[in-house]
Amino acid sequence: MKRAYIETYGCQMNISDSELMHGILAEQGFSTTDKPEDADVILVNTCAIRDHAEQRVIGRVGQLQQIRRDNPDVVIGVTGCMAQRMGESLLGRAGGVDMVMGPDAYRQLSDKLAEVVARRGPAGRLPMSQSAPAIAARGLAVLGFDPHENYEGVAAKRISAVSAWVPIQRGCNYRCTYCIVPYVRGDEKNRDPQAILDEVRALAADGVPEVTLLGQTVNSYEHGGWNFPRLLREVAHVDGIRRVRFTSPHPNDFTRELVEAMAEEPRVCKQLHLPVQSGHNRTLKRMLRRYTVEEYLEKIEWVRAAMPGISLSTDVIVGFPGETDEEYEATLQLMRTVRYDDAFLYKYSLRDGTPATRLPADQFVPDEIGSARLQRLIETHRAIQAEIYQSEVGRTEEVLVEKEGKRGGLQGRTGGNKVVTFEGPVGLIGHFVDVELTGTSGSTFVGEMAGALAAA
Ligand code: 5AD
Ligand code: SF4
Repeated sequence: MKRAYIETYGCQMNISDSELMHGILAEQGFSTTDKPEDADVILVNTCAIRDHAEQRVIGRVGQLQQIRRDNPDVVIGVTGCMAQRMGESLLGRAGGVDMVMGPDAYRQLSDKLAEVVARRGPAGRLPMSQSAPAIAARGLAVLGFDPHENYEGVAAKRISAVSAWVPIQRGCNYRCTYCIVPYVRGDEKNRDPQAILDEVRALAADGVPEVTLLGQTVNSYEHGGWNFPRLLREVAHVDGIRRVRFTSPHPNDFTRELVEAMAEEPRVCKQLHLPVQSGHNRTLKRMLRRYTVEEYLEKIEWVRAAMPGISLSTDVIVGFPGETDEEYEATLQLMRTVRYDDAFLYKYSLRDGTPATRLPADQFVPDEIGSARLQRLIETHRAIQAEIYQSEVGRTEEVLVEKEGKRGGLQGRTGGNKVVTFEGPVGLIGHFVDVELTGTSGSTFVGEMAGALAAA
């Protein structure tokens, strides 16, 4: 039996895709290993969202080449968004890649891996040249979109038995001008709601208490009369599921109906990640985000009115082409107004092929200015986050225990998606426990199991 190793970069959707790939490979007769040096096939599942993400992959694939020395038969493949973006040109990079495969082609994994091996010629022709051009010349690129591929029927092999990613949508119909996603994942495709519900029921039957519904614009979900609020409610009603989250919604599709579903369904976590990207209308317009700051803030008000204390997070890009000091200051101001519990803050990264690359060259923000803006935004956010976390010390929260902590003890999350570490027996993994928050680093908590449960 051939052994496969998969390494994952990027967002939750990519982690979820790797779980699908593990499932597909298992069905196709592969076993998996967590050591690349033991593998017959090494797959690196990649992200293309920023240049930095791609540079890391190039570096890592370069490192993995060492494995060819001991095992010249190994197949090194690059899958996912960067594979789709770079296509055949990736075959000759990073010391040589045997196979490049886009995100819609994973059902062909075993066929294409066999083809890669066949292209090496009849056994006995080894050793072949392991130079990058020679590897590229016999390499294979499997690219392109399949408008019907939702991986229906594939049994994902999940990493966690406590919290499961459930993709409900692939691709994206928005065209935010900075973003590469629509060009590497194609148009939006939504899964059949019954298939999603069957999957959630199967997870619940396996004892998985928490699911996170995934989509690039998860709340634009639509399928045969079903919209996202309806799906969310139905998922929350599946027996055995105790927590439901979703990521990432687009502000433009964020409706009152969704706020009501979140507020009324006790199993939907009181937590919302709502990417804002910028705090100035001119920037939002150039980004083609399709909402104004005022509209965004109004939606935040709906949410807070319906669910006081809800935990909020966001994504922000600074240094987008044409961003003036005034526009940037408006983003800082928005962060101070909303006071997010968590935020993912990025410096704009130019992605070839996206509409923003066609903005006039004199509008591009110099790198040093972008870095300085990012630094100040991070500091502003961290100070706010530390205040919020400090104010929550002393509370008792229901924590779903996920795993052992990095420095011993246990680690879990609150309903608000905040990480808590505390002492306790590993047998509690997968269980809900009441934990008193006794301290904070500013972005995570330490805690102690509350009396009654500690004894149980
Ligand atoms: N440069 C920087 N950040 C980006 N994002 C998407 N595209 C880019 C880019 N070209 C950010 C957005 C998005 C998050 C997943 O990544 O904030 O919400
Ligand atoms: Fe990219 Fe915009 Fe689609 Fe999100 S909504 S994936 S930022 S194009």
